[in-house]
Amino acid sequence: MQLPDATAPSATQTLKVIALANQKGGVAKTTTTLNLAVAFAEEGHRVLCIDMDPQGNLTMSQGIDPDTLERSMYDVLVHHVPIREVIQKREVDVACASIDLAGAEIAMSTMIGRERSLQKALKDIEGDYDFAFIDTPPSLGLLTINALTAAHKVIVPVQCEYLSMRGLIQLQNTLAMIRENLNPNVDIEGILPTLVDTRTLHAKEAIELLEENFGDRVFASRIRKTIRFAEAPVKGMSVLKYDPDGVAAHSYRQLAKEVLSNANR
Ligand SMILES: Nc1ncnc2c1ncn2[C@@H]1O[C@H](COP(=O)(O)OP(=O)(O)OP(=O)(O)O)[C@@H](O)[C@H]1O
Ligand SMILES: [Mg+2]
Repeated sequence: MQLPDATAPSATQTLKVIALANQKGGVAKTTTTLNLAVAFAEEGHRVLCIDMDPQGNLTMSQGIDPDTLERSMYDVLVHHVPIREVIQKREVDVACASIDLAGAEIAMSTMIGRERSLQKALKDIEGDYDFAFIDTPPSLGLLTINALTAAHKVIVPVQCEYLSMRGLIQLQNTLAMIRENLNPNVDIEGILPTLVDTRTLHAKEAIELLEENFGDRVFASRIRKTIRFAEAPVKGMSVLKYDPDGVAAHSYRQLAKEVLSNANR
């Protein structure tokens, strides 16, 4: 992995926050958060991943046991503990979550400014990272709203099947509400076809339908279905580390290039 230095392209940037969101479960939000972040780190950027999902899958996928954490994103959001205190250094830095985060939505519900808890927490570390990638749970509740309020851009992983498309309308409505009330500039960076089974006509048709509806917002990068993505987290690794020369690693490096070139538009 390339180490960031003063000459890295990131040195003059300010923190850019990208949330990975889709209220549908199992569409590769967590997989994309980690592997895209590692691909950015390979390019020399200083990267933080933030686990906003009580399932703690992102935390676990870097080999961290959520049950052993003394403090987690719950304490950051609810008790305003500095986010630095819940960051662990692995392939990339991870702000960790555990199951107690499931209680955060209720604990925050009576707080003034409850939608901005994460945004405020990030102020502390603005100078420490170039990019923060936020993994969100499969819902449009207060945790996801915190992520969308803190974010500059949203990447939406979509499993290529017809039923997944319908959920996108709901996500767009939530984003419109966030723009109106909380974060005027947040927008979709891109829609990422994931779990693509290139052998099936259905996947091809689903991607065509996505492109008809969302045009050039659909990334050119596609993430194909491969068993590597199930194997890597068991070892506590990204696919970029587990199988550095494989197709899976390559597809996330491609995506990183695409996101970075969009940023320079
Ligand atoms: N390209 C892929 N090919 C094969 N399996 C994949 C791929 N991407 C992800 N997976 C597997 O699919 C499952 C769901 O992925 P992941 O956990 O990233 O989805 P998610 O959207 O974060 O789910 P949740 O909504 O529960 O948080 C995991 O077991 C993961 O290993
Ligand atoms: Mg997940």
